[in-house]
Amino acid sequence: MAKLSGLVKTNTAIFFSGKGSNFKNLIKFSLLNNSPIKIKFAVTNNPRAEGIKIARKYKIKIKIYNYKNIRKVENEILNDLKSNDINLVCLAGFMKILTKNFIKKFYGKILNIHPSLLPKYKGLNTHKRAILNNEKFSGCTVHFVNSRLDSGKIVLQKKVKINKKDTYESLEKKVLKEEHILYPKAIKKLFPTH
Ligand code: GRF
Repeated sequence: MAKLSGLVKTNTAIFFSGKGSNFKNLIKFSLLNNSPIKIKFAVTNNPRAEGIKIARKYKIKIKIYNYKNIRKVENEILNDLKSNDINLVCLAGFMKILTKNFIKKFYGKILNIHPSLLPKYKGLNTHKRAILNNEKFSGCTVHFVNSRLDSGKIVLQKKVKINKKDTYESLEKKVLKEEHILYPKAIKKLFPTH
């Protein structure tokens, strides 16, 4: 825990694999005076992830992990989380599945954001599947991570209307905008600061 401006903030690590727009959004959120989190560390499996530039810009300590041997790499990550005194992990577009062993060691302290109204559309290509199924609504979900994919306890959800004209890309854009509101809101719900 880090004490900043009179408020005890939860030391947080963000895991991402790609663009990192949620990562950037959470950094901005963490910099607000009344934010309950401090982002101390970032994890990626992808040396080409655009989010790495964001980490450098905001001076967040980041490590790129080689996922050739999952057991080995997860132990390395767990050690790094420990040495950075991390109490909360936020997955934000992290494209690797955490093993049961990892989740057990951090149980109840890992959140994920998923671009659908869970339990609908677990896994990948959520926008494409929602449109092909003629859904009227899609959305996003922040949930705890357990050992089953996209199945942990839901913290918050936001519905997004699918219009006739929506393409996979336009829906993705609309949902992503809501994700950037939902993730901080879910964290505030779990760590109220008043
Ligand atoms: C988001 O849609 C998130 O819900 C999903 O992966 C995407 C990551 O986007 N898990 P970004 O890298 O945060 O821009």
